[in-house]
Amino acid sequence: MPEPLANVHGQLMLLDDVKISAQDRGFLFGDAVYEVLRIYQGRAWLEDEHFERLKNSLAAIRISGVDLDRLRRRMHETIAAGPFGEAMVYIHVTRGAAPRRHAFPSDTAPLEFLFVKDYDDRPTAQARLEGTKVITYPDIRWGRCDIKSTNLLANVLANQTAAEAGASEALLYLPDGTMSEASHSSYFIVAGGTVCTTPLKSNILPGITRNFLLRLAQKADIPVREHTMRREDVYQAQEVFLTGTTSEVLPVVRVDDKSIGDGRPGPVSKRLLTLHEQAVHAFLS
Ligand code: PDD
Repeated sequence: MPEPLANVHGQLMLLDDVKISAQDRGFLFGDAVYEVLRIYQGRAWLEDEHFERLKNSLAAIRISGVDLDRLRRRMHETIAAGPFGEAMVYIHVTRGAAPRRHAFPSDTAPLEFLFVKDYDDRPTAQARLEGTKVITYPDIRWGRCDIKSTNLLANVLANQTAAEAGASEALLYLPDGTMSEASHSSYFIVAGGTVCTTPLKSNILPGITRNFLLRLAQKADIPVREHTMRREDVYQAQEVFLTGTTSEVLPVVRVDDKSIGDGRPGPVSKRLLTLHEQAVHAFLS
């Protein structure tokens, strides 16, 4: 199994050997954005979509001067250098290193960092068959969750609470009782046979898997609806499932102390999971 490999400004090195300035604004302020991609058999899945979102995140926080085509080439070189088969790529761009001052520094180049790491899907594959347990948790994040920012403290606290409750994810709810997304995934419910998920606004990340799944469902004539949900809608749903780059489609069988459906992955979730698997196979063939 290849060791995790990093690429910093085009330089390949072991992830363990990367040294980043203590004055880096990503470290000091979380002044940074990131992406996570899944690599299947050495090939980057939904690469254009991830780089488009990275472009949007960079523009939203006004980091300029990053050549995204070059960053993509570096990503491919790093995958090939492993070589990596089943893997994930983490890309992280910060505003760079400068003496600590809140306002942007005038002449600092962004830090362009990525790493590639083997990914063992087996535990998640098992969870996809059995279904997973989640909790609900207050969404205490900021007003621009559509930016894939590295400021993940609220997500970390939510997910830790889930872990302590023996659950894998936390579905976040806003002060008005409406639901947003999960700590590191999007999620859907199935109600009255329709697949529903939170509409895209600044309170959620435009999940790449979420958008891909909506398209898959539409093509398969499964009714879909983007609308705001409340906690009761989730508890009463016929099915609930999470989506994300590494989760793919992960059926949820328990939310807090409520069992979903008959406590096993439901037919719509299973169908969408199969459609996702078929799409990945088609991409690889
Ligand atoms: N998380 N919502 C949040 C808050 C996320 O952090 C993520 C991804 C998603 C799903 O997005 P996508 O389908 O594009 O992976 C939704 C990544 C994987 C992470 O932080 O590790």
